[in-house]
Amino acid sequence: MTPSIQSILISESQLQGRVRELGRQISEDYKDRDLVLLCVLKGAVVFLADLIRVLSIPVRCEFIQLNSYGNKTEPSHEIRVIQRLNDSLCQSDVLIVEDIVDTGGTLSFLMTQVKALKPATLKVCSLLDKPARRRKDTVIDYVGFEIPDTFVVGYGLDYAQKYRNLPYIAILDLA
Ligand code: IMP
Repeated sequence: MTPSIQSILISESQLQGRVRELGRQISEDYKDRDLVLLCVLKGAVVFLADLIRVLSIPVRCEFIQLNSYGNKTEPSHEIRVIQRLNDSLCQSDVLIVEDIVDTGGTLSFLMTQVKALKPATLKVCSLLDKPARRRKDTVIDYVGFEIPDTFVVGYGLDYAQKYRNLPYIAILDLA
């Protein structure tokens, strides 16, 4: 059975306001650089779509698809690359765009893959940060919102591939 929404954690207007702030900051920090936004599919796609439209600098977009959760709410230890990277990141300023950093396992795996492609610089922008369950040391350069240890959906984030289309971030009722 599909679980229902328990409550809204971050509203649509809070999301849009914070994305605009991040966009201003990133535009300032990457002025006159060769910025490539590396979007982690599928969860970060809604965030990326809003973020690129508030940037005032030219950017390229690349995509990678990883699978760490399957249809569960607990991360698995094995992370698989589904959509691979090409070498267009070499010598570029790469900013990884993530939906959420939870244990940090996915991000740490991805950083290793990207570093091997020798980007000029590598930073991370995550819409959500759930530090309570962190197992890997990870630096997140741009964070949208820090959230408590709870499973959330919406604005790109899913439960068993559902709820990505919600315009807000909601807590799922998994009880
Ligand atoms: P990590 O490897 O444990 O940091 O998990 C990162 C990935 O797990 C994210 O990119 C999401 O796809 C997924 N994830 C972690 N927490 C949540 C959540 O609360 N809702 C939906 N997906 C989540």
